[in-house]
Formats: sequence, C-alpha cells, structure tokens
Amino acid sequence: MSVAANGTAEGEKGRIVARGLSHAFDAPARGRGEERAPVLEDVGLEVRAGEFFCIVGGSGCGKTTLLRILAGLLRPEAGEVSVGGRTVEGPRPEVGFLFQQPVLLEWRTVLENVLLPLEVGHGGARRGPWRGRKSSEAKRARALELLAGVGLEGYEHHRPDQLSGGMQQRVALARTLLPDPEVLLMDEPFGALDAITRGAMQTLLLGLWERLGRTVVFVTHDIAEAVFLADRVAVMGGRPGRIEAVFPVDIPRPRPASLRYEGHFAARCRPVYDIMENLHGPLRGEGTGE
Ligand SMILES: Nc1ncnc2c1ncn2[C@@H]1O[C@H](COP(=O)(O)OP(=O)(O)OP(=O)(O)O)[C@@H](O)[C@H]1O
Ligand SMILES: [Mg+2]
Repeated sequence: MSVAANGTAEGEKGRIVARGLSHAFDAPARGRGEERAPVLEDVGLEVRAGEFFCIVGGSGCGKTTLLRILAGLLRPEAGEVSVGGRTVEGPRPEVGFLFQQPVLLEWRTVLENVLLPLEVGHGGARRGPWRGRKSSEAKRARALELLAGVGLEGYEHHRPDQLSGGMQQRVALARTLLPDPEVLLMDEPFGALDAITRGAMQTLLLGLWERLGRTVVFVTHDIAEAVFLADRVAVMGGRPGRIEAVFPVDIPRPRPASLRYEGHFAARCRPVYDIMENLHGPLRGEGTGE
C-alpha cells in the first residue's frame, strides 16, 4: 500500500473509524456540587471514504459531542477514532468542521474570511496541502474558485453584514474547503436557514460533494434533509447517546430537488421517523421547519 506525504495510507484516505466512544461532562447535581453526566456510551461507526453519512437525533443526544470527538476538538473518556488510518489526537488540516452559524469576522471581506485558515492554526500554510509552498496568488485564486463554486462570484469584496444568512453560510463552506480537507464534518449547517434557502444549500452541497469526492458527516434534526443527502443515515438517541440504527439510502444520484415530493422518498423517510418517534415520542412539524 502506498503512503501519502502526510503518512496516510492511500486506500484509507477519508475513511473514519470510531470504536467504543464514551464521554461524560461535569453537570450540576442537586445540592451536591457537580457530578459526571454521561453523554455518549459505546458509540461506534465506520464511514467509508467519499461517503455522505448523515446523523439524525433529537436535541441533547450527543451529536455535537460526537462530531467534536471525530474532529479532535474533544478527547473522549473511552474509545478511539481514526481518520485516514491515523488515530485522531487533535485537530488536523485533513478534517474540516462547519458549524451551525457561519462565524465570520465582520471586519474582513468575504475573500479575507475564506483565506483565514491559511493564516492561523492547524489549517495554516505550514501543514496540509498548501505546506507553505504555494504563493499567496495561488491561494487567492483557489479561494476565488471556491467562492464561485458556492455561487458567490463577484462578492469577494463584500463584508459579511452585506450578505444574507445563506450567503454567509456559503462563505463559511468555502473557508472550510480551502485547506482541501479529506473529511468534512457539518453540524446542522443549514439549521438556521429558511426552508427555501435550505433546499438550495442542500442541492449546492450535493453538487460540491459529487465534484470533490470528499467524505461528509452531516448532523441534522431533519429526517427528510438526512435522507435527501445521505448514502446512509444513522439515528442517534438515548441518554447517554448511542447509534440506534443505520439505514442505507439507495436512491440514485444526482437527486433532483423534486425528489422530496415523490412517494418512494417518503417511504425511505418512514423507518427513520418510526425509530425517532420511539425514542422521542410523536414529532411535530418534521421537515417543515416548525
Ligand atoms: N461542554 C459541555 N459541558 C457540559 N455539558 C455539556 C457540554 N457540551 C455538551 N454538554 C451536554 O451534553 C449533552 C449533549 O450535548 P450535545 O451538544 O452533544 O447535543 P446535541 O445532540 O448536539 O444537541 P442539539 O441537537 O440540541 O445540538 C447535553 O445534555 C449537553 O448539556
Ligand atoms: Mg448540537
């Protein structure tokens, strides 16, 4: 097996394996200071290289905690994670993270926000695909290319407060893609958007994913969003959180936006809904933004 410059075995690139993850946080206990509240218990998952993997689950079941562990932002109390065949011990440029809110620097232009990962921290120019070799002109050209890829050509000199919420999230997506991550972890990235913008963002993300061929782990509350996007959907639930079931979604791609209104699409959503309902009770307004 050949080994890439960053020590990753080529066949493993973008593959995620997590085994036996358990974690607890300090939580206030009634009248007795603090106690440990278990949040994840024996969570395991394998995501194939290049797969689009969605995780759905109710609020507080540990989805964000799990993503933070996969990203190396949080050390689990038990278990381990590898990405690309290498054990995760901290944040790495091969793993990108997109949050629910775009978190842009208001005083910087769109282009300067996208270039940020190459200036600071682990995604910087010293490591990862850029490794300090590329000129600032090449970085700028790549940032402009990614901005065009997310439909923001011509907006590079705008400031974030001159953009809509959906446009700001597209800037954040371009910024996450700039270090060319093998794996993209997305934590309810479209949760704050209205239904029409969210649908457009889903289509845009699928187009990018089909072009770039990267592994995506996407967390959402919305069953229809998960089924529309995913190769497989994992349902998380319980306290402490566990993976309760994993469903393959064998709907051919490319998937048109109108797919959401097909009977066979609803049939794919139904078993996911049934498990969620078992875990959380009847769900109101699922997929309708209520
Ligand atoms: N840093 C922390 N310190 C203490 N408790 C925490 C911390 N982060 C999360 N928790 C607790 O862990 C549990 C799971 O939180 P987490 O954010 O992973 O849930 P989630 O599934 O992402 O929820 P949501 O869908 O609302 O985003 C919650 O009970 C939360 O209060
Ligand atoms: Mg969360």
